[in-house]
Amino acid sequence: MPGTPASPASPSASGPSASFASGPDTTRREALVGGAVTLGAAALGTTLGAPSALAATPAPRGPVISEPFTLGVASGDPRHDGVVLWTRLAPDPLAEDGLGGMPDRTVEVEWQVSHREDFATIAASGTTETGPDQAHSVHVELERLRPRADYFYRFRVGNEISPVGRTRTAPVPGTRLDRFAFAFASCQSYTHGHYTAQARLAEEDLDLVAFLGDYIYETADQGSIGRGHFPAVEVRSLAEYRLRHAQYKTDHDLQAAHAAFPWAVVFDDHELENNWADDTSYEEDVPPEEFLLRREHALKAYYEHMPLRAAQRPAGPDLHLYRRLTFGNLVDMHLLDTRQYRDVQVEDSERDDPERTLLGADQRRWLSQSLADSSATWNVLAQQVFFSQRDFAEGDATNFSDDAWDNYKVERDSVRDEIARVSNPVVITGDVHANYVVDVKADFDDAYSETVATELVGTSFTSGRDGVEQNPGDAVQLAENPHIKFINRNRGYVRNTVTPTEWTADYRVVDYVSEPGAPIRDRARFVIGSGQPGARPQA
Ligand SMILES: [Fe+2]
Repeated sequence: MPGTPASPASPSASGPSASFASGPDTTRREALVGGAVTLGAAALGTTLGAPSALAATPAPRGPVISEPFTLGVASGDPRHDGVVLWTRLAPDPLAEDGLGGMPDRTVEVEWQVSHREDFATIAASGTTETGPDQAHSVHVELERLRPRADYFYRFRVGNEISPVGRTRTAPVPGTRLDRFAFAFASCQSYTHGHYTAQARLAEEDLDLVAFLGDYIYETADQGSIGRGHFPAVEVRSLAEYRLRHAQYKTDHDLQAAHAAFPWAVVFDDHELENNWADDTSYEEDVPPEEFLLRREHALKAYYEHMPLRAAQRPAGPDLHLYRRLTFGNLVDMHLLDTRQYRDVQVEDSERDDPERTLLGADQRRWLSQSLADSSATWNVLAQQVFFSQRDFAEGDATNFSDDAWDNYKVERDSVRDEIARVSNPVVITGDVHANYVVDVKADFDDAYSETVATELVGTSFTSGRDGVEQNPGDAVQLAENPHIKFINRNRGYVRNTVTPTEWTADYRVVDYVSEPGAPIRDRARFVIGSGQPGARPQA
């Protein structure tokens, strides 16, 4: 649910300080809890111009909710005037009914935003309500914040105060921006590894994290490192999807990565089921109406656990995921949905059927318009599955993935031709649990044809377990697809520094995830020059 509108970003400077008295030997948690007494009276009274209803009202009836912030906090989808803040109240996150151990009633949640980590002054604050119908998740859309500014935020329920998150607004669209730093990542199977890469990600200095799908896995897998899936079934019901999301969100390294930066998230298949397509299950003989009910459960739980705007709140089995984020005059990020509208996967012999679509007609039109409207230096297609042609078969034979853009060849080629005409197109991709760098060719079958765009594929955070430098089959891929410049199968993420003249992609990897504590290292650096599609390796 959207929050009440934010108060103006410039509160009365002369009002009483809303800071919590945090002495040198007070831990932050003690300071936050202790300060709760002053929160309602001082902070809300100051910023809203009148004592808030909450400050004057006794605590709600019913038992006190203790320690509800077990799933952390998050922010997302920054605009120049605000972000969306997220948390979910779950004192018992793995309670079997999926409702987090919350009482069966509506609860009021206060939120505060400050330029200062100690909340000495308050930039915006308000209250919102949440209830069991949304698993006590909280989505607050902030407005009227300053562009390109850092903010801290936190929530309060009763006397309980959340951890503090940090976020950053975008620059005003079209205004000059000299540097944009963001990471992209995907595929974080809980059972396959510790979230070491997420912990290292949290230490970066970034404007945004783009997460490209497979945030959870739906499987019953128990793995071999003491991080078995809960519940120990393939999830299908709303309660089960909520529990799976809650289990993932209990990880403190993942919480740290969310608390450090705003994220822009899209889902791929495993947020619902392996390789699903529109209303069709990958399992045989599932009636569409039955699958759409499962899809409704999965997408509702997804929204409840992500820092998404109200525009992305699902209606039945539908969630409007595709959207654009703009960062000054430098970057337009077109976020795609390659699941909800796609035709069912077919054999290679049918992949060039011109009627086949991955995006669906509405999204395809929207993308054309979004690209045509863009005046940014860099145009990013942030999406899930491998975009460029990838032939796995040695010699004259061919074999393509049936779940990637190759299986929707005519539409892929039309999107390629279209992005070739916009300023500096870069496709970023998840899904395949490997790092790639790819020249997007005007004709993938002609190595001498023009390079018209660049595809950067990011490895998984954990999926696939510890990872290796390369697989034996990678030599075949490199030989069959000369436009593929780099393959690596370590775990990690891709950090990108974008300027008006250059895009620098650092492939950051950890050498193991089966145990915690791996250091991060730079496996490779590639640079794309503005006006020069294709990435060049840097020593
Ligand atoms: Fe995956």
